[in-house]
Amino acid sequence: MKRATLRAFLGLGCVALGAGAVRGSGDSEPLWAYGYLTPPVPGAKAGSQTPPPTSRNLWTTEPPEEQIQPRHVEGSLASYSKVDIRDGGNVADWFPGDHSPMSSVIAHGPASLGKTSWGCAFCHLPTGKGRPENAPVVGQPVAYFLRQLQDFRNDARTSADPRKPNTPLMAGLAKAMSDDEMKEAAEYFGAMKWTPWTRVVETDWVPKTRIEGNLFLPAERERTEAIAGRIIEVPEDARQSEGLRSPRSGFIAYVPVGSIKKGENLVTTGGVSVVDGKIVPGKTLACAGCHGADLMGLVDVPGIAGRSPSYLVRQIYDLQQGTRRGKSSPLMLPVVANLTTADMVAIAAYVTSFVPPSAPTLR
Ligand code: HEC
Ligand code: HEC
Repeated sequence: MKRATLRAFLGLGCVALGAGAVRGSGDSEPLWAYGYLTPPVPGAKAGSQTPPPTSRNLWTTEPPEEQIQPRHVEGSLASYSKVDIRDGGNVADWFPGDHSPMSSVIAHGPASLGKTSWGCAFCHLPTGKGRPENAPVVGQPVAYFLRQLQDFRNDARTSADPRKPNTPLMAGLAKAMSDDEMKEAAEYFGAMKWTPWTRVVETDWVPKTRIEGNLFLPAERERTEAIAGRIIEVPEDARQSEGLRSPRSGFIAYVPVGSIKKGENLVTTGGVSVVDGKIVPGKTLACAGCHGADLMGLVDVPGIAGRSPSYLVRQIYDLQQGTRRGKSSPLMLPVVANLTTADMVAIAAYVTSFVPPSAPTLR
């Protein structure tokens, strides 16, 4: 497969497609949460759900030696070439000691897709910590995880930005999975604990970035671009994360100054305020009632504490716009209905920075 084709499926270089009419009060699409700079062109459809074949072919855009040369990650005894690292059907495993043994569906993907299959751990990483452009699946309740796979399978979980290519691909994988594979995957990721992986930094300025496969990568060290109300989430070390897909190298989320405090009020009280001595009800509901006092999940409600803010905002916006309309999504509707994009930014800044006392220690 040519580099451009694989990149397109991983997210880069897709043709701009249409946005649905805006519902709820999310004033404008948080484009950064989807990995784009400009809005989609109105009226077009989402991409294909059929996973493209994974491949070990050499790309024509790089010298072959560069692609087959063995690479290393600090602290790992393994060595993988670029061809190995981008092989979605045989997931590279830098740190086998960091997770339980990977079954076939985790390392190679749903069996029904044969050679074209994608292992869950390719996008979500063997540790399940995931990346901003996909999802942090580790430590989620098994019942929640299984319900999401059913929602994807039933076309009840689609992206508000129809250009985003890996959401339909995720749906295609859910449709290809057997019930046993679903259970195996839910139990594998569910048995491991969530640990923080995104460092939140309040700032007025962010580094200039470029986008590859819907992921922001820093283009320079200095921070010279105004944050302008966005969250810009980049790898701590682009070479480790993007080049080598190291599951030990986390992310930095730059968030607007003051957003953590504003988010704390929305998350802990629903945004209640006191005006002229009177209590004014908030525009949302306190999250702990359903997500648990520590926001780490409860029964079949997902954990949200410490997880990627780009992912959190994308889900909140998808729920508000009604493109994520799974079996339990209605419970979130009163939460998201009146949120502006700035509220979503504040909520995510707080939730991602929140490390509950019960959380296992840092990575
Ligand atoms: C090509 C990349 C890719 C692969 C491979 C992949 N996923 Fe996903 N997955 C995604 C993306 C992207 C999302 C989030 C979609 C969005 O934000 O719109 C997601 C979301 C999920 C979620 C929902 C998480 C949540 O917190 O709600 C589950 C569960 C999941 N994936 C399970 C799996 C399983 C099981 C496999 C293996 C069969 C798998 N994924 C393989 C890209 C991938
Ligand atoms: C009334 C119960 C309830 C309240 C209150 C609530 N949530 Fe939720 N939340 C849910 C349920 C249930 C889901 C799973 C929805 C689904 O399956 O589609 C969910 C899902 C989510 C997700 C998607 C997680 C993922 O892994 O994809 C996010 C993000 C989220 N909630 C954030 C919040 C925030 C932030 C608050 C507080 C401002 C909040 N929720 C308050 C019940 C609630």
